[in-house]
Amino acid sequence: MCGIVGYVGAQEVSGRPLEVVMGGLARLEYRGYDSAGVALVTPGQDELAWAKKAGKLANLAAELDERPLPPATAAIGHTRWATHGAPNDVNAHPHLSQDRSLAVIHNGIVENFAQLRAELVADGVEMTSETDTEVVAHLVARRYHETKDLTEAVRTVAQRLHGTFTVLAVHADQPDTVVGARHDSPLVVGLGEGENYLGSDVAAFIAHTKEAMELGQDQVVTITPDSVEVVGFDGERAEPKRYTVDWDASAAEKGGFRSFMDKEIHDQPHAVADTLLGRTDDKGRLVLDEIHVDEAVLRQVDKIIVVACGTAAYAGQVAKYAIEHWCRIPVEVELAHEFRYRDPIVDRRTLVVAVSQSGETMDTLMAVRHAREQGATVLAIVNTHGSTIPRESDAVLYTHAGPEVAVASTKAFLAQITAAYLLGLYLAQLRGTKFPDEIAEVLTELRAIPAKIQTVLDGADRVRQIAHWMADTSSVLFLGRHVGYPVAMEGALKLKELAYIHAEGFAAGELKHGPIALIEPGQPVFVVVPSPRGRDSLHSKVISNIQEIRARGARTLVIAEEGDEAVTPFADETFYVPQTPVLLAPLVSVVPLQLFAMELATAKGLDVDQPRNLAKSVTVE
Ligand code: F6R
Repeated sequence: MCGIVGYVGAQEVSGRPLEVVMGGLARLEYRGYDSAGVALVTPGQDELAWAKKAGKLANLAAELDERPLPPATAAIGHTRWATHGAPNDVNAHPHLSQDRSLAVIHNGIVENFAQLRAELVADGVEMTSETDTEVVAHLVARRYHETKDLTEAVRTVAQRLHGTFTVLAVHADQPDTVVGARHDSPLVVGLGEGENYLGSDVAAFIAHTKEAMELGQDQVVTITPDSVEVVGFDGERAEPKRYTVDWDASAAEKGGFRSFMDKEIHDQPHAVADTLLGRTDDKGRLVLDEIHVDEAVLRQVDKIIVVACGTAAYAGQVAKYAIEHWCRIPVEVELAHEFRYRDPIVDRRTLVVAVSQSGETMDTLMAVRHAREQGATVLAIVNTHGSTIPRESDAVLYTHAGPEVAVASTKAFLAQITAAYLLGLYLAQLRGTKFPDEIAEVLTELRAIPAKIQTVLDGADRVRQIAHWMADTSSVLFLGRHVGYPVAMEGALKLKELAYIHAEGFAAGELKHGPIALIEPGQPVFVVVPSPRGRDSLHSKVISNIQEIRARGARTLVIAEEGDEAVTPFADETFYVPQTPVLLAPLVSVVPLQLFAMELATAKGLDVDQPRNLAKSVTVE
């Protein structure tokens, strides 16, 4: 968690360093918004200039208006998701050395901080905050005092830190330098003309440059206006890989929508279409050249385990139904944090599929490492280029949802499901479990999905209206069956996250085994009804479930396929979605649930882009 920005520019002092860093923090605020802070280096000054404030970036901006900082040549900035210490002004980053000549910002957790802190206190260092980061600031300051070399000071301190971290440091003696180090936390370099940047992700500097450099694990980077030098924690020089970012700055902005969430929900037809793009040849065959795994290995796979968290895990659950059906390979879906700490049965014939929007979720990363240690092949389905999970996996299938800024995931979910379908079809093609024309037929249906999502979006007025009427509801239940079950759970998660309303998703078949006790007069229940064109018995069983809860007074809000008249007698409200093959239906049926959660939260006056207590990428375990 936490967002980090670093900037170093031309030698003359100016307001640009602060401007760049504040702009970068605004784009990274989704990573955490408990506090924000900046530190600036001005040549000829013994002390750094700095400001930090609890709460959102706007609080820091107000502070800077009241107490402007001097022009500078270099700057670092931080937006925090609190781990050690309360989210107040004192614990906000940057953390400074005692003489105020050095400042450090940090993303991650230093696990041995208590021991390092005790060592410093014993040496007479006075701690001012409760954070693990302050320890790093004092350690780097002491090493700098000995070496007068900021890179060396950061490198040697990094060797002493356990846990996960990205650290950036500036020193008053070095007005043309920012040094960064990373271990299990993200850090990318942006390359400008006479200026260079560092950021937790490319959104930090995308407004200024699309040229970027990927840093490896355990590396220290030193940027000056004209140079970028990288060494490993062992001191060996490294040659990082350059790449050009294919997102543009406007993709990271709201584009006229009320919120990033609103924009991202409306971006979903593109997220699905772009994820499909370029992945078939002119004969309609699937071509996933990016999966650099020996075909013989994929042919031998006898089990797939999807590891992921939250919404990404629900995408995995949808994928399970499709992959098992198409490939006849057993698929388990496991929350990454649970997988990691049990003793999973994984071997060389297991394909582990790690699904992650950010590519930085620590729980998922740990599961990836654990799986590879056991000899499994790991394939990542990830949205963010340059992130850690793809680098540590055997192969990656990127989703092309573009940057997802709203903290709660929407378009990345649809893109993850789409990519997982592609993977399933690819395995079916490779292993011959489906005929080419069957695969081509599914691909044709998939290509029709973006237009269907658009139809749902265009006809969503009723969902909006109902959500606004339900603004003071205190509990909503969601039922689904087959692929509708993970959709129901995702609908409930969205409502919890965005509207802070108690919500639960259940498998409709489970209703009689307990949850039906929750039904009382007026209880709103969303029901995701399977297509009547699929397995008939499934459709009629869910209709029976609707009758059962309606008979007990539930208010039934039904998502059904166009033309499904059988549901109407038992539905208080019906939201129709276009007809879609059963396995692909989640791509359209989840959309009304996302809209419902967003609208209800909006009606309650809540911030749908940055719900309380959450952060976009959970880079701590
Ligand atoms: C929910 C949500 C989270 C994420 C989860 C995994 O709206 O966004 O549940 O899906 O934290 O994040 P990634 O996909 O970045 O690994």
